[in-house]
Amino acid sequence: MKIVALTGAGISRESGIPTFRGRGGFWEGTRPEELATPRAFFRDPEKVWRWYCWRREIISRARPNRAHEILAKMEREHQLWIITQNVDGLHQRAGSRRVIELHGNIWRLKCTSCGRTWEDPGACGKIPPRCPRCGALARPDVVWFGESLPTQALRKSFELAEWAEVFLVVGTSGLVQPAAELPFIAKGFGARVMVVNPERTPHADIAEVFIQDKATSGMEKVYELLQNKGPS
Ligand code: APR
Repeated sequence: MKIVALTGAGISRESGIPTFRGRGGFWEGTRPEELATPRAFFRDPEKVWRWYCWRREIISRARPNRAHEILAKMEREHQLWIITQNVDGLHQRAGSRRVIELHGNIWRLKCTSCGRTWEDPGACGKIPPRCPRCGALARPDVVWFGESLPTQALRKSFELAEWAEVFLVVGTSGLVQPAAELPFIAKGFGARVMVVNPERTPHADIAEVFIQDKATSGMEKVYELLQNKGPS
């Protein structure tokens, strides 16, 4: 079966990583514009880097949870792609290979001048980091508000939305475009939309199945529902 899963911060919540919106979220008490925009970065790169290093510290202690593991298992049993808005890399650590990172990856850095990117695992060193090639300021290789998404990743995501027979939506508030549009496109091309979220979201209104539950237990139910459809 051709399955696409759009995931958001909620799928990593049970791994101990806060979501962005809602109680205890990263945006609680903080305005995203102060930390996750090019303007905020160039105004105070050290402040933005302190925030990202704090997030990296939390993510480094996190482990993939049952929901990540189920998607990795399903990738071996179906034609399955993951489109994630998350930058934590937990899908890959759970064993998923067909993962599209729409918003980048917090463990990769990008030079603000020459554009070079490089992996930067482990704890932050001196901040703000500099490009090893040209010495200019380095930034997290993630998509900030007001920035365009990686072209290849976006193109592939829209193609997959049209290709999917089943479109899973796990742990996203569905508030940030263009990712939030993908389930509607999939529905328009005849896919069965299945939503897993403890709260109702705009995607639940177009879902054939809305599982109002946490990602770990909700994905167990999704797996069961699709299992009796047999592998493709
Ligand atoms: N299991 C599943 N979903 C959960 C859980 C859980 N245990 N806990 C919370 N959720 C849901 C919330 O109900 C909410 O709908 O996860 C969603 C998290 O929403 P957001 O915090 O808005 O995160 P997300 O949708 O991924 O945000 C999209 O916005 O800030 C930008 O770039 C950032 O990628 C992010 C984008």
